[in-house]
Amino acid sequence: MASSDHGSTTAPKDVPGSYGLPLVGAVRDRLDFYYFQGQDKYFESRVERYGSTVVRMNVPPGPFMARDPRVVAVLDAKSFPVLFDMDKVEKKDLFTGTYMPSTSLTGGYRVCSYLDPSEPTHTKVKQLLFSLLLSRKDDVIPTFRSNFSSLLATVEAELAKGGKAEFNKLNDVTSFDFIGEAYFGVRPSATELGKGGPTKAAKWLIWQLHPLVTLGLPMVLEEPLLHTFHLPPFLVKGDYRALYKYFSTVAKQALDTAEGLGLSREEACHNLLFATTFNSYGGLKVLFPGLLANVASGGEKLHERLVAEIRGAVADAGGKVTLAAVERMELAKSVVWESLRLDPPVKFQYGHAKKDLLVESHDAVFQVRKGEMLFGYQPCATKDPRVFGDTAGDFVPDRFLGEEGSKLLQYVYWSNGRETENPSVDNKQCPGKNFVVLVGRLLLVELFLRYDTFTAEVGKELLGTSVIFTGVTKATSGPGS
Ligand code: HEM
Repeated sequence: MASSDHGSTTAPKDVPGSYGLPLVGAVRDRLDFYYFQGQDKYFESRVERYGSTVVRMNVPPGPFMARDPRVVAVLDAKSFPVLFDMDKVEKKDLFTGTYMPSTSLTGGYRVCSYLDPSEPTHTKVKQLLFSLLLSRKDDVIPTFRSNFSSLLATVEAELAKGGKAEFNKLNDVTSFDFIGEAYFGVRPSATELGKGGPTKAAKWLIWQLHPLVTLGLPMVLEEPLLHTFHLPPFLVKGDYRALYKYFSTVAKQALDTAEGLGLSREEACHNLLFATTFNSYGGLKVLFPGLLANVASGGEKLHERLVAEIRGAVADAGGKVTLAAVERMELAKSVVWESLRLDPPVKFQYGHAKKDLLVESHDAVFQVRKGEMLFGYQPCATKDPRVFGDTAGDFVPDRFLGEEGSKLLQYVYWSNGRETENPSVDNKQCPGKNFVVLVGRLLLVELFLRYDTFTAEVGKELLGTSVIFTGVTKATSGPGS
């Protein structure tokens, strides 16, 4: 099924599509992307126009931030995995795509997400993150539970007061504290950083991601402000310094490990900050509201089944939420995977062709030249009807259950790799892969130990979904702890 640069019997075709006129074409496409068509339509309409899921197009931001906005987009489940093949693509400096934020936002270092596996520092930092996650594995469940049970207590208080509770706001504060405590044993809000951590982090994230977002302001404001020039890094320096201080204080043990791996404490600390604040916090900011929205849409019937599975497994483990108990919750796991499939939190992936190669879609084989930028819009691949059938665009909680269901896991790509494969120092798959699927399940555990069902209003916000709780029904049966 993977794309190949040899062995195909079909004659390779040139990739169809168009970049339009230099400069003008890219600016026009950017406006289509943000304002006239919107993300999904932007890609779908080009697939339709050229009758191909491998197609040339411009991607934002374009001028003047990106030197070259031209890409070969891979937009089906069969062509997309070329981006995972380290023999075929180089992943240097393209974490955010065709532009790269200033390294003065990351202490002057190119942090792990921007490194290709061929660079020795990539191996050292990834190894550091694997060992950090491993060393803290027993702390994840209790830390998650204490932070998120307190979030749900706040939800209940807000519902009692005003009939509504905004999940995203509470999630930002809680996820930030949870990750800090889970990785380093100290909640950021209990340090000098105080309650300002999530706001400082969000501001720093915007400085890196503003070329790719719209704030819903009029186009005449957003275009010059967000999409044409980089926001000056000095305006976020103080926020970054405060975040750095937290990490340099609490991460002593991880920094010792880093030195043992041959990294300087300073480079390691900037990397820990990035992996915690951008990769982990940024990820949970989008993942949890998306998951909750999907589970809310499943309604009482789904909730009843999750209640039965979760409470049953916890009761069998003597009333405790253990890793073994969580592993037995197959429906919960399928729900988390399905949500990651339907709404992958990181939607864009890029890679430069290392050599002339062939990329295979469902329908044809295409010639791509060395140095060309390959680009994947993940929702097109993970909602491919040729793999997921008529329900490809729907939330199907049971999708990955059983033997047949597990065969579909190879087409779940949220971690920048197949769900059936594992991150390593030799690839660019997310080192937080197992952690993410675990905490997704833990959110469901916390919810359905506490509630029989809940209702929520779902909308859109800057980086994904917004969720407002409108009602919860407290648990009527055990174990409830
Ligand atoms: C890489 C997604 C959570 C650390 C990636 C990539 C994706 C991704 C798509 C590949 C980007 C690319 O190269 O194109 C996510 C999502 C998360 C999440 C959706 C949460 C919902 C985490 C967590 C960690 C983490 C918890 C903590 C260690 C990293 C790092 C990389 C990475 C360091 C770069 C890997 C490398 O250079 O080999 N992640 N991630 N991520 N992620 Fe995650």
